[in-house]
Amino acid sequence: MIGLVLETAIRDLNAISDSAPLDAEVLLAHTLRIDRGNLRARYDQSISTADTQHFHHLISRRRQGEPLAYILGHREFWSLSFKVTPAVLVPRPESELLVQFGLDALTGIMQPRILDLGTGSGAIGLSLAYSLPHATVDAVDISPAALAVAEDNRRELGLSNVRTVLGNWFDAIRDETYDLIVSNPPYLADDDPHLATGHLAAEPQLALVSGKTGLEAYKLIAPQALGHLRTGGILLLEHGNTQASALRTILDECGYARTTIIRDLAGHERATRAHKPG
Ligand SMILES: C[S@@+](CC[C@H](N)C(=O)[O-])C[C@H]1O[C@@H](n2cnc3c(N)ncnc32)[C@H](O)[C@@H]1O
Repeated sequence: MIGLVLETAIRDLNAISDSAPLDAEVLLAHTLRIDRGNLRARYDQSISTADTQHFHHLISRRRQGEPLAYILGHREFWSLSFKVTPAVLVPRPESELLVQFGLDALTGIMQPRILDLGTGSGAIGLSLAYSLPHATVDAVDISPAALAVAEDNRRELGLSNVRTVLGNWFDAIRDETYDLIVSNPPYLADDDPHLATGHLAAEPQLALVSGKTGLEAYKLIAPQALGHLRTGGILLLEHGNTQASALRTILDECGYARTTIIRDLAGHERATRAHKPG
């Protein structure tokens, strides 16, 4: 019976997941190729041996700590479906703030030019390109495997206003200037204990770890971004919830103006916006 198989899986997952019922339901619905909402109506129905075995396989991957998004192969972000593989960070809901504030920043600019540095799956850059069909977006990543995922997502979303670019931060886009440079760079210190736990243990180190302090990527991006922003252009950076003040110091030292901290729905300092002065 479907209900029985589900209850057993939830008990199995309780040990490792705070969202065991949701995880199990999503994986069972995926196995049965139905909407999660239809599961309850089918609790008393039987399940084939092949589907049971497949479901157990997915549950055992989840039990070993693999993120749900890697098992399913996709994640929703900005109401769009993004392919994800272990080569990319699983896009986080908090990063939608960068899309929201990026769109705000570009109000009134007819054909904005946008750079997404460290694009990963392309979540931020492609969402901006989708929302602003008249914009052009360069989406840069140093990882060929991550960039291939971004390119697949670009194609799947039918976006012709995005260029995916392989490179180390600004190296491959030397002469370009932008109205908005957005980035969710790696920002964990290499000895951060969270790296060994939960989702982070399964995600690429290249996407997570910046160096000894966690601030290294900001120290590279902030000064170079000034040379690639139009006057009045905006740099929008996601960061850890304890990094806002250190990042502000970096931005002040570079000469940025009107620096503002952006909080997420939980009230955590999650991103910072700064302007290139005129
Ligand atoms: C935290 S992930 C962000 C991914 C995506 N933007 C998101 O928010 O879901 C950081 C990304 O930066 C890329 N990255 C790391 N170092 C880089 C560098 N030197 N130049 C360009 N990209 C880099 C990683 O490969 C990774 O995809």
